[in-house]
Amino acid sequence: MAKKSPSFICQACGALHSRWQGKCESCGAWNSIAEESPAAVTLPAAHRSGRKGRLIELQSLAGTNDSPPRTQTRIAEFDRVAGGGIVPGSVLLIGGDPGIGKSTLLIQVSATLASAGHRVIYVSGEEAVEQVRLRADRLGLANAPVELAAETNVEDIAATLSQGRTPVLVVIDSIQTMWTDSAESAPGTVTQVRSSAQILIRYAKQAGAAVILVGHVTKDGQIAGPRVVEHMVDAVLSFEGDGAHQFRILRAQKNRFGPTDEIGVFEMTGLGLEEVPNPSELFLSNRDRGAPGTAVYAGMEGTRPVLVEIQALVVPTSLGTPRRAVVGWDPSRLSMVLAVLEARCGIKLGGHDVHLNVAGGFRISEPAADLAVAAALVSSLSGAVLPADNVYFGEISLTGAARPVPHAPARLKEAAKLGFARAVVPDAKASERGSKERGGKERDGGAPPIPLDVISSLADLVAGIAARGPRRGARAVEEA
Ligand code: TYD
Ligand code: MG
Repeated sequence: MAKKSPSFICQACGALHSRWQGKCESCGAWNSIAEESPAAVTLPAAHRSGRKGRLIELQSLAGTNDSPPRTQTRIAEFDRVAGGGIVPGSVLLIGGDPGIGKSTLLIQVSATLASAGHRVIYVSGEEAVEQVRLRADRLGLANAPVELAAETNVEDIAATLSQGRTPVLVVIDSIQTMWTDSAESAPGTVTQVRSSAQILIRYAKQAGAAVILVGHVTKDGQIAGPRVVEHMVDAVLSFEGDGAHQFRILRAQKNRFGPTDEIGVFEMTGLGLEEVPNPSELFLSNRDRGAPGTAVYAGMEGTRPVLVEIQALVVPTSLGTPRRAVVGWDPSRLSMVLAVLEARCGIKLGGHDVHLNVAGGFRISEPAADLAVAAALVSSLSGAVLPADNVYFGEISLTGAARPVPHAPARLKEAAKLGFARAVVPDAKASERGSKERGGKERDGGAPPIPLDVISSLADLVAGIAARGPRRGARAVEEA
């Protein structure tokens, strides 16, 4: 027999190395390489047996195709992100920081499904059955017929699952605690996590039960260890939020059965997670209407409009290099807006610190927020208060032109619904054209629901704000 030398595996990406090193050359992670036993790394016996391959029947792309039947959990915010419900035989990975509420969400999903008469099995590898019960009790779900187990061995779990009626949903909380006899490394290592996930995925596909795996997240937001697992599962959802705020957002990062731009919004209360069907109201509560430096942005998350307040603070710097601090938006996007303000509108911010914050802890990923950010920045710099009933959306190009963005009608409708009286936007006709080109389904139903202030460039926006007159210190803009 060949001598087995130890193998070194990167715990972040799963790359195999022949010796230990500080940095993984494959993914660039530091101090992520751990020694694992060689037996754990070799292929299972079936793959080594050298048998001849069985012939597979090939099929055509066209054919009878039922769209996968979905089981709705009746937690609408969850169903939306999952793509309209749980697909039988699919495997979902839910990642999130510790304490964010993954177990709470999943026990609620399990309980609602079980109460609707489906068989649901909840396996906790982290908590004792008692703890899970206590939580369910606190959530008022103790009477739901969820079948519980506290177990970490995947073979035992798979054997248990194959008994009796096929469950509709199996929750594994969490995949990092699972271990299998077929791998020799310690629980939590890449090999263990990958092998355990493989067994559970095979079970899901064979039995047609949906499996939800919980995964922990590292400091930099990666689903810890099982990045390898992300490729194996059908959908990866992340559960986000921060300790300072009550709301939590469920976001799809990958979904083989649905869109990846939908979000589900929840609020963590003393009685568990509550759905937030109208997130804009939540994000716009506690607005400070009389202060310069705030602008309301009409954004889109998937098919849903979300209005959030953007806050900017521009103050003379006391340091050699001015600070640019951003919470909830892309810092390089802010640099771009600042550069365009300087180059096209002559507003110099080189001597100012710039702080930008998306209120409520929300994270914006769309470039459509450019215009709202610029408005907040100019308002803060000039001291001119923006009208509290205005919303802003639009993209800014490097030439200083304001560019239309998709889904303008949906954004305007939401703004009207929340009592906003005016929208500052790039060319509205083009907005609608843009949304159709990009596959939007909105109809241009005649007049917009609220009056529009159509601007064609960033300079128009700045001029409009400067004309409002400063509350204090507008010199910077006037000089420009
Ligand atoms: P948990 O679901 O255990 O988080 P995770 O599984 O992601 O680690 O949630 C833990 C936090 O949620 C805990 O800090 C307390 C809070 N919480 C509430 O505020 N209300 C509740 O009803 C429950 C069950 C938890
Ligand atoms: Mg948990």
